[in-house]
Amino acid sequence: MTAELTFTTTRSEAPMSAAEREAVLANPGFGSTFTDHMVTATWTKGEGWHTGEVRPFGPLQISPAASVLHYAQEVFEGMKAYRHEDGTVWTFRPDRNAARMARSCERLALPVLSEEDFIGGIKALVEVDQAWVPAYGSGEMSLYLRPFMFASEAFLGVRPANEVTFSVIASPAGAYFPGGLKPVNLWLSRDYARAGAGGTGAAKCGGNYASSLAGQLEGIEHGCDQVVFLDSSTQTYIEELGGMNLFFVTKDGRLRTPALTGSILEGVTRSSILELAPDLGLTPDESRIEIDEWTQGVASGEITEVFACGTAAVVTPVGELRWDGGSTASTAGEGGGEYTRRIRQALLDIQYGVAEDTRGWMT
Ligand code: COI
Repeated sequence: MTAELTFTTTRSEAPMSAAEREAVLANPGFGSTFTDHMVTATWTKGEGWHTGEVRPFGPLQISPAASVLHYAQEVFEGMKAYRHEDGTVWTFRPDRNAARMARSCERLALPVLSEEDFIGGIKALVEVDQAWVPAYGSGEMSLYLRPFMFASEAFLGVRPANEVTFSVIASPAGAYFPGGLKPVNLWLSRDYARAGAGGTGAAKCGGNYASSLAGQLEGIEHGCDQVVFLDSSTQTYIEELGGMNLFFVTKDGRLRTPALTGSILEGVTRSSILELAPDLGLTPDESRIEIDEWTQGVASGEITEVFACGTAAVVTPVGELRWDGGSTASTAGEGGGEYTRRIRQALLDIQYGVAEDTRGWMT
């Protein structure tokens, strides 16, 4: 596929002042403040992609009959822009996000956007809003980028939409979990599944996240931060957290993560950690992992560390796993085990340009 879009820029007449922006950047939290501009483009059946724009950030005008509001025909991505010490701005493996969005679009019967147009949209926004990329050395701050695509056609029949909108918004981000490197406790959901065989679990679509929320509420009631979902057919195998993938470090030097079975999201951070593992002396191992292996492995000492990963959360140590009637001990100590911290640092060093990017991951 080749590029179809060019992005024309209309600058905001009321951008935030430098002082206001610096006040936001001093404590951005996650996902609650947005830059001055956004990207939009439209696809119409028969015409393809057109009307690429960088324009002032603001409400989108859509019909209350837009299909996305009724049938959830929508996909999104999560990525970050990082500032390096020399002031330049970089993204991490954007080709991976473009390819995954294309796979998600195929699953949700949305039109595929070429890698050139996906990256073109990101670049156009980051160029205009580059003052929003936090300074180098300001902790783990970055500009979180949220590309998304949805069925904007006003039509209530159930079929793939004939008009679709692509957009990119950006939000300065600190740590996803307010506690930073503090371990998160996880709730094991037995009542809810996130995705089933043949479903949309491998696609990054809003519906998967919506279906994780009831489990998340249950987890919060039990003092947990996130939920672990098992495979929906046998409730035996560990899948993922809904918004993050899971990893286990074992006593014999393996770095285990659940194999991609079609109902797990292929995280860009997940793939990158698997590639980095040998550099840290760990053997990557993607296989099906039973929930009993987790509970028994922590008890026996076979599992020495557990962590979760994703673009937003980077690498986050996992403390206890809790379920109705029991819990594991935490393997995370105060700030995560040795490998959890080393893997997290190895990733961050590449992303912030501290370590040489030998794999060509930064763009
Ligand atoms: C990400 O890590 O970028 C995600 O998409 C997870 C979540 C914030 C939805």
